[in-house]
Amino acid sequence: MMFTVAIDGPAAAGKGTISRAVAARFGFAHLDTGALYRAVGVKGGDPVAAARSLSPEDLARDDLRTLEAGQAASKVAVIPEVRQALLEFQREFARREGGAVLDGRDIGTVICPAAEVKLFVTASPEVRAHRRWLEVGGDAAQVLAEVKERDERDMNRADAPLKPAADAVVIDTSTLSVEAAVAAACAEVAARLR
Ligand code: DC
Repeated sequence: MMFTVAIDGPAAAGKGTISRAVAARFGFAHLDTGALYRAVGVKGGDPVAAARSLSPEDLARDDLRTLEAGQAASKVAVIPEVRQALLEFQREFARREGGAVLDGRDIGTVICPAAEVKLFVTASPEVRAHRRWLEVGGDAAQVLAEVKERDERDMNRADAPLKPAADAVVIDTSTLSVEAAVAAACAEVAARLR
């Protein structure tokens, strides 16, 4: 069976948590596509060459979740050749046997426009910055500024900007518990699987 769940949204909206929970619940494979861009961003050197030669070791680095890696990812993600180099891997992952969940910015719009389920997971910048701050610590105002800066860049780039697909179901997690957000996402998947 092939079944693709596309989960897009801005930084720290809860995509990762929801994606992992959906994948576990339905036995689907999960790909965090942000990790691909983070790995390219932290690799250094020419980002296009880095994207074309990405290895499993690059994806296993333990510094991919830092704020710096997020900013570096957002910067290399504006380069069309970088996006192009990562596209086929993501599409193949999406069509694997047994079902797949991909989370990112352009999964429902560009990578998998025919995905069986498309979710757009969002929350206010303040709520997202607070969650990121709980994860990484540091200066809260700085974390909020970085979240806003990354939103700005991700939403306004020319190639595959962050936006909900026309047929995406929006889940705003600003005032939802993790359990409620996961339940809403799982209900959408269950409805399409029937
Ligand atoms: O989801 P994340 O915070 O790990 O993503 C890091 C950056 O990578 C994000 O700011 C923009 C980029 N990205 C992208 O352009 N397209 C994706 N599908 C996933 C991430």
